[in-house]
Amino acid sequence: MGHLTFLLAAVGSLLPFPSAATPLDKRAAVDTCLSKLKVPVLTAGSADYVQALKPFNNRVTFKPAAYAVPKTVEDVQNAVSCGSQNDVKVTAKSGGHSYGSHGLGGEDGHLIVDMRNFNSVTVDQAAQTAVIGTAGRLGNVATALYNQGKQAISHGTCPGVGVGGLSLHGGYGLISRSKGLTLDNILEAQVVLANSSVVTASPTQNPDLFWALRGAGAAFGIVTNFKFKTFNAPESNLVFQYSLSPSSASQLSTIITALQDFTRNSQPPELNMRLFLSAFTTFSGVYYGTRANFDKVMQPLLTKMGIGSGGFAQITEKNTWLNTLTSFSNGPLEQPAVYDTHETFYAKSLMPEYLSPAAIDALSKYWEKNARNLNRAWYLLIDSHGGANSAVSSVAGDATSYAHRNATFKMQFYDRVYNGNYDPSWQSFLNGWIGNITAASPGVQYGMYINYADTGLSKEEAHKAYWLKNYDRLVQVKNVYDPKKLFTGPQLVGS
Ligand SMILES: Cc1cc2nc3c(=O)[nH]c(=O)nc-3n(C[C@H](O)[C@H](O)[C@H](O)COP(=O)(O)OP(=O)(O)OC[C@H]3O[C@@H](n4cnc5c(N)ncnc54)[C@H](O)[C@@H]3O)c2cc1C
Ligand SMILES: *[C@@H]1O[C@H](CO)[C@@H](O)[C@H](O)[C@H]1NC(C)=O
Ligand SMILES: *[C@@H]1O[C@H](CO)[C@@H](O)[C@H](O)[C@H]1NC(C)=O
Ligand SMILES: *[C@@H]1O[C@H](CO)[C@@H](O)[C@H](O)[C@H]1NC(C)=O
Repeated sequence: MGHLTFLLAAVGSLLPFPSAATPLDKRAAVDTCLSKLKVPVLTAGSADYVQALKPFNNRVTFKPAAYAVPKTVEDVQNAVSCGSQNDVKVTAKSGGHSYGSHGLGGEDGHLIVDMRNFNSVTVDQAAQTAVIGTAGRLGNVATALYNQGKQAISHGTCPGVGVGGLSLHGGYGLISRSKGLTLDNILEAQVVLANSSVVTASPTQNPDLFWALRGAGAAFGIVTNFKFKTFNAPESNLVFQYSLSPSSASQLSTIITALQDFTRNSQPPELNMRLFLSAFTTFSGVYYGTRANFDKVMQPLLTKMGIGSGGFAQITEKNTWLNTLTSFSNGPLEQPAVYDTHETFYAKSLMPEYLSPAAIDALSKYWEKNARNLNRAWYLLIDSHGGANSAVSSVAGDATSYAHRNATFKMQFYDRVYNGNYDPSWQSFLNGWIGNITAASPGVQYGMYINYADTGLSKEEAHKAYWLKNYDRLVQVKNVYDPKKLFTGPQLVGS
């Protein structure tokens, strides 16, 4: 007997017994708390729950500790409090489009606060403002704004994306060069903080929080709704698309070099465009002006790119705003109540201020050698993001926590499969592409865009690349509003 007791005591002292409960083990305690406070939930295993756990990116799935679907701001406060009391991390989810499934926590064991019921759009036509719920999907939001006095905001192209993630970390689309990023048009936000209090963040109320929310929002609270400045939707827009077929690395270099020079120095704000490089290559965008002016602006660029008059062009004039959006939305703007579109992919990004000739050469050679004959549905999207005449670059670097004001291009490297799983070894394709570009530009710290969350980055790499010089100040604000790191994730500020 004595022997056995001794043995058990010894074993007991070796096992970290009481602290071993993982967040997933706390499901019952969190669920009990949510139930006591009458916060609506999705029950583990129910059909709704299974559907809700399917991320946009099938490659990246997680198991939450609990799943709340609040109906009121008070429900959100109570959910946050249940997470805090049980020491379970809390994550807001809006549209669920994070490439790293950060809306599901970005790791196992979070309490997910699914904001789907916060999706209303209310325009004040006289003031040209709109209050928009965080979980509104872009296509529905654009339609609702338009139906209330033909108003609009600047936002991304995919109609299924949620306002929440887009606005809190950037938001670049086909009118950003004249109207700025989505986050540049936020007037104020209503936020539930880690201690469950509700505050307004604006230039005059909690201005440090307001600064942090606009670029790194996920780490600072749960936004219930935003108040945006709106503008009159432009109604006679030129939509263009050229087909290109670069046949060699040097030809691709010529195209990118010409585009970079044009974007940095002469691209007018009313011209928004992107180069889409894949098995087929297109150069497309929107011009908010007349055909005559468009031709005048574009001709020198097209000549330098070698498109000249030989490239196949599709140009349509007099598109309404909703038509313009639909030209880039891959389907109808209006989104179903149960969203069920998914892809299986790995993606990376670069936000270069300037690509040196050596970097462009490395990019193009890698394309020639490794990309153009690759039999997967990869693409490289190069948005003309900044430059001398871009509204994005004209905002001061310290006005918001978005760190990429001077980035000329917003580059997205995307590699997907249409059937089956994405083999992890395939990640070397995009890693190698970025690796060759950075190796050719020693000493350059490239920014990256958290809205294209890159699961290949370590925490430290992510912090540096997503927030550059703004990171240290973000950590200071984090320590004020969320010292216990309730809102966290593998790549968020302070993680
Ligand atoms: C098909 C597709 C097209 C895209 N096109 C564009 C584009 O044109 N331009 C562009 O800029 N981006 C684009 N993106 C990227 C997109 O902006 C990001 O994926 C964005 O983060 C998605 O937001 P979400 O609310 O849908 O995602 P979620 O996964 O729900 O959220 C993303 C992150 O934001 C946090 N978050 C969400 N809501 C809140 C809240 N209320 N309070 C606090 N934190 C919150 C989440 O916790 C998570 O960390 C695209 C993405 C996809 C999948
Ligand atoms: C952007 O470039 C301008 C001009 O070179 C510089 O003054 C500014 O500090 C830069 N901003 C950022 C955020 O790097
Ligand atoms: C550059 O690309 C080659 C493949 O062409 C790859 O083997 C190599 O690892 C890449 N270099 C870097 C630094 O990523
Ligand atoms: C909640 O946190 C905020 C930010 O740190 C603080 O200003 C406020 O006083 C706190 N509220 C309560 C009730 O503790």
